[in-house]
Amino acid sequence: MEYKNIILEKKGKLALLTINRPKALNALNSETVAEIDSAVDKIAADDNVLAVIITGAGKSFVAGADITQMKDFNSVEGRKFSRLGNRVFRKLENLEKPVIAAVNGFALGGGCELSLACDIRIASSKAKFGQPEVGLGITPGFGGTQRLARTVGLGMAKELIYTAKIIKADEALRIGLVNSVFEPEKLLEEAENLANTIAANAPIAVRMSKAAINRGIQCDIDTAIAYEWEAFAECFSTEDQKEGMTAFVEKREKCFKNK
Ligand code: CAA
Repeated sequence: MEYKNIILEKKGKLALLTINRPKALNALNSETVAEIDSAVDKIAADDNVLAVIITGAGKSFVAGADITQMKDFNSVEGRKFSRLGNRVFRKLENLEKPVIAAVNGFALGGGCELSLACDIRIASSKAKFGQPEVGLGITPGFGGTQRLARTVGLGMAKELIYTAKIIKADEALRIGLVNSVFEPEKLLEEAENLANTIAANAPIAVRMSKAAINRGIQCDIDTAIAYEWEAFAECFSTEDQKEGMTAFVEKREKCFKNK
């Protein structure tokens, strides 16, 4: 698939996905969401990619779903668009590789929701976050009513969604929406450092940790703990567990093979 609105690049063990529709501040129309869908499939199929970074071209990460496209929707079209966005973002959330959102600018509406479907969010000091949908007469539609509360807690999510207010990076850091804030020119370098640090660990163990966390957070603690012990047990059938522990005991560098 030829991409018009995104750029997918490989950098060593990393995939860098850039939303690239700067004339509309990277707003997500259905074409762009379909391209993200295809990129996630490509990344999933590439065993050499061990971590993913998502960012935006220009001054915006993603300024939301495309208002121009949505303006004349009826409810059938609205449902179709929300189902598309939710299906793709859920696929991204379930991708068996760690995903870092490097939020370089506006992360509003669908943009904030895109970052919430990633495992880790880091931001430029110029980033701005918000769910401005109620100011447009709609609810968040790409997962914001669900993932924001799971990330920053019910009260803060409700305040952000009900007020439609836009917050700066330092406030996003304070409420736990992002893990760290960097100077704009350092953001991608820091994202790559973080992604490479993750990619240096045993990929299957990272993948299983992600699955256990994502599944466990949605269920009761006894079911959740069972996911953990199954993941833990499964790791002992991998070559990388033998390598990691043997290298520790032999006091040498480890060399993981994703096996
Ligand atoms: N959809 C479509 N086009 C958008 C857009 C969006 N979400 N956000 C920005 N643009 C376009 C603008 O229309 C403008 O296009 P033109 O040059 O053709 O006029 C261009 O991007 C540049 O935008 P601005 O001139 O507005 O730039 P600014 O720096 O003055 O303001 C901004 C930046 C505060 C982000 C402002 O553009 C804005 O408020 N955008 C909308 C943000 C928003 O409400 N997002 C939520 C969308 S709803 C949603 O996402 C639903 C969901 O959950 C799925």
